[in-house]
Amino acid sequence: MEMTTKIYSVGSLDDYLLQVGRVVMVDNQEIAIFRTSDGNVYAIENKSPHPKGGPLAEAIVAGHYIYDPLYDWKIDLITGLVQSPDTGQVVTYPVNVKNGEIHLTL
Ligand code: FES
Repeated sequence: MEMTTKIYSVGSLDDYLLQVGRVVMVDNQEIAIFRTSDGNVYAIENKSPHPKGGPLAEAIVAGHYIYDPLYDWKIDLITGLVQSPDTGQVVTYPVNVKNGEIHLTL
């Protein structure tokens, strides 16, 4: 199967509050967008890597980490890696901000 990537606009930076996750639907996928206190923007799959899953957009944000709202797993927004003692990884998507507009690559 051929893999293709596409760039999607998900609105302007001003549409996203600092440290508050927001869900966007892109290409039939639920993606949680986080704007951290240092101004960076991260996009991850809105699905916890926990065996029971669950959404991540309502996670508590601290630095570039989030805390899974259901299981309190600590997840690095940069790598998607679940921090010890738990293990797993959430899918991350490249984000590009240009002229105040947020673009995701899927
Ligand atoms: S808090 Fe932004 S890079 Fe660590």
